[in-house]
Amino acid sequence: MKIPQNKIDEIAASTDIVDVISAYTPLRKAGRNFMGRCPFHEERTPSFSVSQEKGVYHCFGCGKSGNVFTFMMDIDNVTFYDAVKTLADKANIKIDYEYEPYDPDRNKIELLYEINNRAGRYFHENLMGRNGAYAKEYLHERGLKEDIIKKFGLGYSLREKDALYKKFQNDFSTEELIASGLVLNIGANLPAEASAQAGEIRDRFRGRLMFPVFNEAGKVVAFGGRRMDDDSGDEAKYINSPETKIYNKSKTLYGLNFAKNKIKESDYVILVEGYMDLISLFQNGVENVVASSGTSLTALHSKIISRYTKEVVIVYDSDLAGQNASRRAIELIIENGMNVNIIPLPRGDDPDTYIKKHGTDGFRNLLNKKQSIIDYIGESYISRGMLESPEDKTEFVREIIGLIAKMRDEIKRDFYIKDIAERFSIYESIIRKELDKTLKLKSKGLTREIDDKLISKAEKDTSFKEHPQTFEISLIKMLFYGDDLTKDYIINNLNIKDLNNPASIKIIDFLIRTFSDNKKINIANLFNTFPEGLENKIIGNALLDESSVLEENRNYINDVKSLLNQINITKSYKKLYIRNN
Ligand code: CTP
Ligand code: MN
Repeated sequence: MKIPQNKIDEIAASTDIVDVISAYTPLRKAGRNFMGRCPFHEERTPSFSVSQEKGVYHCFGCGKSGNVFTFMMDIDNVTFYDAVKTLADKANIKIDYEYEPYDPDRNKIELLYEINNRAGRYFHENLMGRNGAYAKEYLHERGLKEDIIKKFGLGYSLREKDALYKKFQNDFSTEELIASGLVLNIGANLPAEASAQAGEIRDRFRGRLMFPVFNEAGKVVAFGGRRMDDDSGDEAKYINSPETKIYNKSKTLYGLNFAKNKIKESDYVILVEGYMDLISLFQNGVENVVASSGTSLTALHSKIISRYTKEVVIVYDSDLAGQNASRRAIELIIENGMNVNIIPLPRGDDPDTYIKKHGTDGFRNLLNKKQSIIDYIGESYISRGMLESPEDKTEFVREIIGLIAKMRDEIKRDFYIKDIAERFSIYESIIRKELDKTLKLKSKGLTREIDDKLISKAEKDTSFKEHPQTFEISLIKMLFYGDDLTKDYIINNLNIKDLNNPASIKIIDFLIRTFSDNKKINIANLFNTFPEGLENKIIGNALLDESSVLEENRNYINDVKSLLNQINITKSYKKLYIRNN
C-alpha cells in the first residue's frame, strides 16, 4: 500500500520539525535556523542545523541531512512508511492508501519484523505447551507469575537442532531466516572440505529460555536465550541475536517500551543489568526500569534515556563486573549532561534477588539511600582502606575531579566542588586549580579530534568526483531559490555535460526535470528522493549553509550568466590545455 503524495505533503506541513527533533536533541535558535548537537554522531560542539521554515536539517559535522521523515527513519530505525504513519498519528491526519509499487528495501525490514514477531509467538507457544513444561517450572521456581510471563512474551526454544527452521521453512527463505539471526549456516565459515556439515542449517537457540527484545515501539527485534541448567558445562549462560537491519545493540535498551511512560511520570530511571532483574522489578510494581542487557551501557543508550529523564539511578550487580560496569556507565551518563546516583547492593545480590528477599518496600527504602558519585567512589576507597593517608586522599580527589570535568553544567560543577571541599576539608581553590588543569588537557584532546576530521576531509577533497565544485553548489542553490525566470534560464542554457560531480549532476538533472514537468519543487521532499549518499549531503549543505544565503524568488539571471561563463572559460581552457600538451 502506498500513501498518496498529497497526504505526505499535508503531514509534513502540519508537523513542526523543530518539535520533532527537540525530543531527541535540544535545539536553540541561532540566526534563521536552530542549532544543536547532532543526534547521529558524538560531538561536543553543536553542528546540527535545523530550518523550521523549510522543514529540513543538516549536520555540518557528519553530513547527514533530511526532512522530518528521514529523521524519524534514521533515529528510530523504521521504514519511510512507518515514519509517515507515526507523524500522521501525531498530527491527527488520516491516511487513505493507494496501491504501492514493490520496494525491496522496505520489504526486507518488514520481513525481519515479521520473522521476529512470528518467532516470539512460536517460542511463547512452546513454553506454554507440553514441551515447555520444564522451562515453565524453572520460571515458576524463580518466582515469575503467569501474567508477567505473558507481558514479556517469554518463551522456550526446543532442543532439536532445527525445530524453528523446519517450522518457518515454508513461509520464509533460508536466506531470510539467516538474515534474521534465528538460524545459522554451520558450515558457512569453514572451507567445504574442512567440515562434513558444511552448509548445514541449524537454529541459533536450542533448549533455552527465550527473552524477546523489543524496540522502543514495542516490536520484537531480537532474542536473548538463557540456558537453564546452571551446571551445563561450557555452554554460554546467554546467547543473543546478532545485530541485524532492525537490531542495533548499542541503541536498544531492554524494557524501554514498557517503561517509558513510568520513566517520564517519575522523572527518573532505574538502570539494571539483566533481563531477569528488570522483569522481577516489574512484577513487584517497580516499572521505571531499563536494562542495558547484553552490552555495557553505550553513549547512545544514555542519549536515548535522556529523552525521557535526566535522572538515572544505577542498580547493578554487586560483583566486580557490576562495579566496573557502573563506573563506565557513570561517566557516560555524566557526559550526556544527566545526573546519576548509585545503589550498591549487598554482596551476592542483584536487583532480582534483593527485591525477592526484601519486597517492594525494601527495594524502595534502598532507593532512598542512593549514593551520589562522591559517596559511591569515596566508599569504594574506604572499603579498600584507602582514604587514610594524604596520598590516598589526593588520588581520590583526582578521580572525582576527572568525573566533574565531564559535567557540562558549570553550576553543577561548582556544587560538586563545594561539596568535596567541605566533606574532605580541602581548600576549594586547590580543587578548582586541579579541575582547570584537567579541563585544559581535555580541550587539547578535543582539538586532536577536530584535526582528524579536517585531515580526512582534505583527503576526500582531492577529487571533484567526490566533492561538488562551487559553481555546481551555486547552481543548485539558484534552482532552489531563484524565481521562475532564473530557473527557465538555467534549463535553456546549461549543458549538464559541463558539470563534473556525479552527485551534483543527479540533483541538477532531477531539479530541472521536475521544474520542466511544470511541478513545483518542494524542497523538503527532495530528501525523499535523495535519502542518503553524497546527494543528500550536498542538498542539506546547500539549503542550510548560512555563509551565502540566497533570497527566495529573486531573479538571479545575471549570477547564472556569470556562472555559465565561468564554466565555458574553464572548458575552453581545458581544451586549449589538452591541445597544447
Ligand atoms: N548477558 C549476556 N551474555 C552473557 C551473560 C550476560 O548477554 N554471557 C547479559 C544478559 O542480558 C543478562 C545480563 O547480561 O541479562 C546480566 O547478566 P547476569 O547478571 O549474568 O544474568 P541475569 O539476567 O541476571 O540472569 P540470572 O538472574 O538468571 O542470573
Ligand atoms: Mn544477574
